[in-house]
Amino acid sequence: MGTVIAVANQKGGVAKTTTVHTLAAALVERDRRVLIVDLDPQACLTYENGLDPDELDATIHDVMLGRVGVSEVILNVNGVDLVPSSIDLAGSEIHLLTKTGREFVLGRALKSIISDYDYVFIDCAPSLGILTLNGLTAADHVLIPFQAETLSHRAVGQLLDTINDVRAYTNEDLEVLGAVATMFDRRTNLGKQVLAEVAETHNIEVLPPPIPRSVKVAEAPGRGRSVLDHARRSTSAQAYRALAEEVERRT
Ligand SMILES: Nc1ncnc2c1ncn2[C@@H]1O[C@H](COP(=O)(O)OP(=O)(O)OP(=O)(O)O)[C@@H](O)[C@H]1O
Ligand SMILES: [Mg+2]
Repeated sequence: MGTVIAVANQKGGVAKTTTVHTLAAALVERDRRVLIVDLDPQACLTYENGLDPDELDATIHDVMLGRVGVSEVILNVNGVDLVPSSIDLAGSEIHLLTKTGREFVLGRALKSIISDYDYVFIDCAPSLGILTLNGLTAADHVLIPFQAETLSHRAVGQLLDTINDVRAYTNEDLEVLGAVATMFDRRTNLGKQVLAEVAETHNIEVLPPPIPRSVKVAEAPGRGRSVLDHARRSTSAQAYRALAEEVERRT
């Protein structure tokens, strides 16, 4: 049975999408079967995999509306299976609001295919709305990327409150796999300080290693690939490979 990991933080731009894309590629290098689900109407994960959301026949939006089965929208890109998104997904939020059992739609849709994979990653949008609640309800674990440069990790606390609500109401088995420090600058003390503070304040583990800030990571999506292909031996590629090993160890 595959392990489902929601990658979430309602703070924008903390490398959720980059982490899903790159961790998935690292696990495929390790011969794991991986599915990635774009659960963000911005559809960045879909773009980053070289697809134009406007050209797709069906996306996660159609799955959330019950129009098609999830297996009908999966596309294989560079060895990773992808459930794409598009801006239409913003409309599903409105549709779901009036539906009974609205938090369970994604989990139910994924049920039929989870056993085809070792890992399923869900790339959540930067919000704590109904789509993210669906991601957390469908997941076994949550991985929380955070930027270790600012002192504003209040977002992590709010997310942990939401995770507690999800445990109480829709998914009692949800576990926090850990946080991941992204865009890390090892030359400054601030980075190390924030890392320690996040772990201590919120009583969660920050998984090793921190992912260094690197222009190679930022360049890769424009080429429709992850940094693992774009700069195979870069320190950030090696860091994501080590993180993949750590995730495997803990799941
Ligand atoms: N290690 C890194 N070094 C440098 N740039 C990075 C790194 N990781 C991510 N980025 C860049 O930071 C930006 C934000 O990353 P990303 O889109 O993955 O964040 P996100 O949390 O998914 O954002 P959103 O909240 O909008 O969904 C992107 O331009 C990405 O290329
Ligand atoms: Mg994103």
